[in-house]
Amino acid sequence: MAQYSRVSGTVGLITLLNPPVNALSAAVRQGIVDTLDKALSDRKVKSVVICGHNGKFCGGADIREFSSPLTGPPLIPLIQGVESAAKPVVAAIDGVALGGGLELALGCHYRIAHSKARLGLPEVHLGLLPGAGGSQRLPRLIGVPAALDLITTGRHVTGAEALQLGLVDKVTDRNTVDEAVKFALSVADQPPNSRRVSTFPCPRHPDLDALFEGAMQRVRQRARGALAPVACVQAIRAAATLPYAQGMERERELMATLFTSGQARAQQYHFFAQRAVGRWSMPSGARWDTTKPGAVHKAMVIGLGTMGRGISVALVQAGVSVVAMETNEKQLMEAKQAISSMLERGAKRRGVAPALDKIRYSWNMEPAADVDLVIEAVFEDMALKKKLFQQLSALCKPGTFLCSNTSGLDVDQLASETRHPELVVGMHFFAPAHVMKLLEVVYGSRSSPQAVATAMELGKRMGKVSVAVGNCRGFVGNRMLKPYLEQAFFLLEEGTTPEFVDQVLEEFGFAMGVFRMSDLSGLDVGWRVRKADGLLNVSEGHSARIRQGCRYSPLGDLLCEQGRFGQKTGRGWYQYDKPGGRVAKPDPWLHGFLEKFRTQHGLVAHRIDHQEVLERCLYALMNEGFRILEDGIAAGPEDIDVIYVLGYSWPPHRGGPMFYAGMVGLQKVLERLEHYHQEHPDIPSLKPCNLLRKLVVNGSPPVHKWREFLKKPQSQL
Ligand code: CAA
Ligand code: NAI
Repeated sequence: MAQYSRVSGTVGLITLLNPPVNALSAAVRQGIVDTLDKALSDRKVKSVVICGHNGKFCGGADIREFSSPLTGPPLIPLIQGVESAAKPVVAAIDGVALGGGLELALGCHYRIAHSKARLGLPEVHLGLLPGAGGSQRLPRLIGVPAALDLITTGRHVTGAEALQLGLVDKVTDRNTVDEAVKFALSVADQPPNSRRVSTFPCPRHPDLDALFEGAMQRVRQRARGALAPVACVQAIRAAATLPYAQGMERERELMATLFTSGQARAQQYHFFAQRAVGRWSMPSGARWDTTKPGAVHKAMVIGLGTMGRGISVALVQAGVSVVAMETNEKQLMEAKQAISSMLERGAKRRGVAPALDKIRYSWNMEPAADVDLVIEAVFEDMALKKKLFQQLSALCKPGTFLCSNTSGLDVDQLASETRHPELVVGMHFFAPAHVMKLLEVVYGSRSSPQAVATAMELGKRMGKVSVAVGNCRGFVGNRMLKPYLEQAFFLLEEGTTPEFVDQVLEEFGFAMGVFRMSDLSGLDVGWRVRKADGLLNVSEGHSARIRQGCRYSPLGDLLCEQGRFGQKTGRGWYQYDKPGGRVAKPDPWLHGFLEKFRTQHGLVAHRIDHQEVLERCLYALMNEGFRILEDGIAAGPEDIDVIYVLGYSWPPHRGGPMFYAGMVGLQKVLERLEHYHQEHPDIPSLKPCNLLRKLVVNGSPPVHKWREFLKKPQSQL
């Protein structure tokens, strides 16, 4: 798992060999120990180069090994052994040097990187800290502020940026290993004593207390209850204030707490879940590895509002030529400006030229005749979308894929308007579409595997994590959101306030509680959908709190009737200092309105505590997740969890709603849902779903075993 050879006469070359990313498995670590011994004991060898097989230095510790007891040589003494070697050791960094991989490079005496290599300490995203000396060596090498930035955000830097930071000694655009060998030859006679990073003093900073206080405040605000970012700051503080050996001891203590935490388990689950969703399958039996995507060189985006603009930018940045089309003249001019400036900003960030020539604009549909794929992002109006799909079907060349960005309408109905329903799929992006990483790819009953593969692949090119889901109202994400929002409204009716509900959900880890979020996205959006669904009509002789046979909360509709659409009108569930204002303040009017509503409907407010808010909102959401699995709309719990973490700000350190259900205990979730359903028999979403019962009856298996209890997809191939 590590190869050894002698090159250019006197350089010992150690190559890490563990495809695809040369992770530091037990075998690789043993390989490094053995080959380093060989190099150091070979009298002909004057210096050593460590590189990775196949253009990748090292993707870090082997995360798959974290769930079993440690075997093989531990990493800390291994890196110590590299650093204390008497012969100069050079890291040749190609591709990636991440986590333990970068920590290994920090133990080397010199680092040569390719300019495009990516370096970083992303352990914080796995619920950990750089626990193989990274938190102690990095600040000594590049200073405390830069180390705080890299370690607490986990961001990757390119070789070029690494050089500026002082993280590497040299960058190259040529063959990195050749350059490193040349470099190793040039330093062969220089004893590496002064190159051991652990012996460096940590660069002084004029006001360490203020620096760490600021850093702690920032991570606490961003981390929303996550332990790892806080521990990262504490470990770096130890580097800045303690001798190396004591700092290492502090790093070890902090890592020991994190390593066994539920948060680390949740974040590592999320890491693998993001990769698992790429291995999609359809009920027909079609799969990711047996279906070839179609080529997409040219695409058309129709409707340049909030979503169409972001989608156009993401396509251009992925190298696709775009025709952006809009019927409203003012919108088109504004969109053109907005798209150009988004492309310019993005290009500046990435240090490339903006690809403004990759996009052109149109008033009409004619350019549709010459594209490989169309993404429609006009208003959420079925009649309008249907008409558009009819036109597209007549205009497009044979084989053009037709996609809709609808957030929940029936993809089959759209497909039925076209001559080739097999070419129709949903591509549900999230706002802002050029930033958010999630894409739901919605297959209808007649979507071809190739159409799904094409949308999945295009999403990947756009830097998204694409999840294939079945067609139903709201798909996965928005379908689960419905019972969650509903519970929040019911809780207001029963006695609580928007502030309390939001506080509980934000303490749980959501970036925003439901009411703050609803004010931000606009209360009118849901109102229009409910109107279209006929939900605003109260049946004669029925209470306004019953619609279509179930309990219904008209609170949102009543606010909209008052023109309270949220931030855009300066009033919603909260009040703002002006229309468009951002700072939500409790609104006494709203509290009075809720009291009047309760009196009018004979409701007696009762005390609702933290536990009830959390359980009713979250368990109703999870219950819908189980139904989605039962209905075969999502292939597995990982799909739902990835959608919630990447699209709905579910805190990553809680894994996702389905993972969290497992953490709480399925038996407990079931019992609490039964309890709430008994109290509220008129709320069907609180009735525990059969799959949840089945899992409990079968001993509450861990989340990775749930697929065994789902109906097998029926192969029609
Ligand atoms: N351990 C185990 N498996 C890993 C891995 C790792 N560190 N890194 C990647 N893989 C696996 C992936 O799970 C995936 O497997 P499947 O094909 O079976 O799904 C495969 O390698 C390829 O990975 P990607 O699909 O992600 O490939 P990519 O080219 O898009 O990205 C990468 C490559 C940037 C290295 C990305 O995989 C990545 O970010 N990996 C994790 C890096 C990381 O977090 N390292 C720190 C580990 S913790 C640590 O090192 C702590 C310590 O010192 C004690
Ligand atoms: P928007 O109202 O901001 O933009 C819609 C645009 O479509 C407008 O510019 C309008 O002029 C244009 N348009 C209308 N009819 C047209 C036609 N026949 N041809 C060309 N252009 C036409 O709407 P938004 O928010 O961008 O939503 C678009 C779609 O994306 C909807 O289906 C919505 O449900 C969905 N969506 C919205 C999200 C959001 O957060 N806003 C998130 C995910 C999906």
